[in-house]
Amino acid sequence: MNKQPLRERFPNITRVPHHVGIVMDGNGRWAQARGLPRLAGHKAGTDNIRRVLQAATELDIKVLTIYAFSTENWGRPPEEVAGLMNLLGEVIRRETRDLHANGVCIRHSGRLEGIAPHLQRQIQEAVTLTSENRRITLNVAFNYGGRAEIIDALRHIMRDGHAPEAVTEALISQYLYTGGLPDPDLIVRTGGEYRLSNFLIWQAAYAEYYATPTFWPDFDEVELATALEEYSRRDRRFGKVPQPGPGQAAIVSPQ
Ligand code: IPE
Ligand code: IPE
Ligand code: MG
Repeated sequence: MNKQPLRERFPNITRVPHHVGIVMDGNGRWAQARGLPRLAGHKAGTDNIRRVLQAATELDIKVLTIYAFSTENWGRPPEEVAGLMNLLGEVIRRETRDLHANGVCIRHSGRLEGIAPHLQRQIQEAVTLTSENRRITLNVAFNYGGRAEIIDALRHIMRDGHAPEAVTEALISQYLYTGGLPDPDLIVRTGGEYRLSNFLIWQAAYAEYYATPTFWPDFDEVELATALEEYSRRDRRFGKVPQPGPGQAAIVSPQ
């Protein structure tokens, strides 16, 4: 493995996104290409999280949201769903202590309801244990759906008795599962599809999008750095006119 720091190897990374969201897609096709069962792809995909989290930490990304299981994924064959649930339990048991030691703050975005009670407990314990850590936040979108999230937020807002006039973008953001986290700056999708699949649909309103054909188990630190190089080239306008870049003279209109 190349030991040279990523920022030196990739000097074209001139801006690091604060929050990156990843749609970890392509596990099934990765396995299929090797003549393996789909679950072997999910296992390889789960193992890959450690490598990408390490690279994200090195690159000084502060929040990494990973899409691990969608509300729509319940529609897969029962054995696959059961396998994905087992993998979640396994990975929490195996990794939490190390993540905690490395300053990782674990968050969960999604509905706990619907997940087996013992897994709910494991998730909550990992979140509580690591809540004070500040090096990087690993936000795991599990049993997550963007539309379900908005419904849950609205129900909660109404239950808390907010007046209609008090409902603002900031209030809704605060009530989402991601409350308190900044919006994602960059959404990466592996596996070659060009869609959000119900991921962070509210929060990604102004995110930059990056898609790669690489299947998730093969997405490594070079791939992440390449996505950040591409992000560095983007001009984020937020509906306004281009900002003068460094070295460019600002055009000042006469008063
Ligand atoms: C992504 O990989 C993981 C989950 C959705 C849980 P897929 O399982 O969707 O892989 P492909 O898209 O079938 O290759
Ligand atoms: C999105 O991948 C969900 C996750 C990565 C967890 P899918 O494979 O479920 O998305 P679609 O079905 O291709 O839209
Ligand atoms: Mg898929």
